[in-house]
Amino acid sequence: VTATITLHPDFQVGAIDRRLFGSFVEHLGRAVYTGIYEPGHSTADEHGFRRDVADLTKELGVSMVRYPGGNFVSNYVWEEAVGPVENRKPFIDLAWRTVEPNIVGTDEFLQWAEREGIEPMMAVNLGTRGVAAAVGLLEYCNGVAGSKWADMRIANGRAEPYNVKLWCLGNEMDGPWQIGHKDAHEYGKLAAEAGKAMRLTDPTIELVACGSSSMYMDTFGEWERTVLSYTYDIVDHISMHAYYEEKDGDRASFLGSATAMDRFIERVVASADSIAAQKRSDKKITISFDEWNVWYLETRFPGEKNLPLQRDAPRIIEDIYSALDAVVVGDLMITLLNHADRVPVAALAQLVNVIAPIMTEPGGDAWRQTTFHPFANTARLAQGSVLDLRVNVPQVTTKAHGDVPLVTAAATWDESGEAGAAGALSLFLVNRSTSPATVTISYSGLAVALDGGLELLADHVGMREGKEAAELVSTATRTAPASENGTVTLTLAPESWSAWHGTA
Ligand code: AHR
Repeated sequence: VTATITLHPDFQVGAIDRRLFGSFVEHLGRAVYTGIYEPGHSTADEHGFRRDVADLTKELGVSMVRYPGGNFVSNYVWEEAVGPVENRKPFIDLAWRTVEPNIVGTDEFLQWAEREGIEPMMAVNLGTRGVAAAVGLLEYCNGVAGSKWADMRIANGRAEPYNVKLWCLGNEMDGPWQIGHKDAHEYGKLAAEAGKAMRLTDPTIELVACGSSSMYMDTFGEWERTVLSYTYDIVDHISMHAYYEEKDGDRASFLGSATAMDRFIERVVASADSIAAQKRSDKKITISFDEWNVWYLETRFPGEKNLPLQRDAPRIIEDIYSALDAVVVGDLMITLLNHADRVPVAALAQLVNVIAPIMTEPGGDAWRQTTFHPFANTARLAQGSVLDLRVNVPQVTTKAHGDVPLVTAAATWDESGEAGAAGALSLFLVNRSTSPATVTISYSGLAVALDGGLELLADHVGMREGKEAAELVSTATRTAPASENGTVTLTLAPESWSAWHGTA
């Protein structure tokens, strides 16, 4: 396989919004309890949050965390999880059929995020609740003294408003599994009213309307158009969710997942822009890709209907990832970067234990999954703006996605550079082929020497999974060949993700 990539610093897709490197903590399984929070753990801080998990979150480069759900939010009564912990009562969360002890609630989460320097993204319940509860929660979080909910927060020990900027108007309301599921008209009207009232409460917030739960929903497309026809002038973003998995041993289709994500983004952008055209509006709705990951949903997860009622932070959807899964995660991040102009917000679902890059043992260690590495390195190296590449590469026909390119790429250029440098270039590359790929990159507009790369190879660690595979991945670094006249030729191993970096 041979490919050529041409780039120039003047040709840019757009600046990278750091909220692209978000993640997600839902009250689901062990994401909260024995995930971020475990009083009594040897690393727990005075508030009961695990230091080892917070340190790995920092190393992962997570900028923003979405909370409290997910499906969980659609039957959540936030008022029951604030105030003195001894007064809070457990309730049965119907989304995951788990008894939620209500020990961690809005204040505990927001204060954890604040201590860790993470921007919170909150979701309101538009499943079993509505406008009043949404406005109450917003006022509780962002209001100043002198009104009911803000005063309640102050009485609960938090004087300063949290100033949460990003708000999701419900979660996956198109999904029949969602508690309080609605059709597009019902949801669109409710989201518009809740959004209107929330903006009147705090005009500085950004609002996210629910888009489709996946591109494969029967209502996809029509859902976006209908919801946006009600909410266009009120919301800033529309959400997208997508999970990918290898099905029936079809490795080529699985490796092409990021192309499916690419088409999904283009279709949602087209739907949003069609409403702008109809409304003769200059406003551009952007995307909050607030759930994305590899998830063996069909092959490993029994489904909500079969979940027994559980308590005490059960192990639910704790997928263990292979190196191949990490290559796909790296590739999905390449797609997100290449849409930097329309995707300012994204969240890897999720952060810890639940389909997550970070795993913990109750009372024991926290460790990095294979997928931790492409995320952490992309978040660290992707700085400045995304460049608009010209990529010339052969395609392969896959069963699930038709024609997909065999090599994918994203490049970022940071004009301000690092200390002592005039600028920094980072390249992210995936070779989806089972043969090596020779990729020639021309960047004549830049005097950059690539000083090294981190490579994650699917075959390097075979299909080994878990801790062992993740440890091998983290040590797989190599040196870049010298560049000549602004051209460098890299040989990419079969089924690999790699990141390269250089300074000018
Ligand atoms: O991330 C797991 C679940 O996936 C979320 O709760 C839901 O929004 C989605 O279906």
